[in-house]
Amino acid sequence: MTSAVLILNGPNLNMLGSREPDLYGVETLEDIRAQCAARGKELGLAVDFRQSNTEGELVDWIQQTEGISGMILNAGAYTHTSIAILDALRAASVPIIEVHLSNIFRREEYRRHSYVSEAADGVICGFGGHGYLLALDALSRILKAEPE
Ligand code: DQA
Repeated sequence: MTSAVLILNGPNLNMLGSREPDLYGVETLEDIRAQCAARGKELGLAVDFRQSNTEGELVDWIQQTEGISGMILNAGAYTHTSIAILDALRAASVPIIEVHLSNIFRREEYRRHSYVSEAADGVICGFGGHGYLLALDALSRILKAEPE
């Protein structure tokens, strides 16, 4: 049976490709979405890939986990500010993997704390778009280990 996985992207990630390419690379979010769909197919996971610049919309999506087996989240700058997103994640009863393109621990002090991490099963950062594929692999492993 195919499990559904939600991949959520926060503010400014729609600008990937042209946004600070030295930091975030030249891949677009659409490139990453296509790679995730392909990897998901190999793993038997149906990938629902979304992006929003709005905190409330991300909260709404996190609340809608019915039919979803797991979640991958790059909350962008909301990672470091949003207790609302943390609260929504805490209420979601699915495994959660946090992803960042850049290594947030090698950057400015204000990026080194993540509210999302407090609700995440694991964190992958610093591997660019490949991090999303690593997160899918991790999620697949977690889901396989779960009792039916
Ligand atoms: C980011 C890191 C955040 O600090 C930043 O605000 C982003 C992108 C990343 O993927 O490296 O928007 O989440």
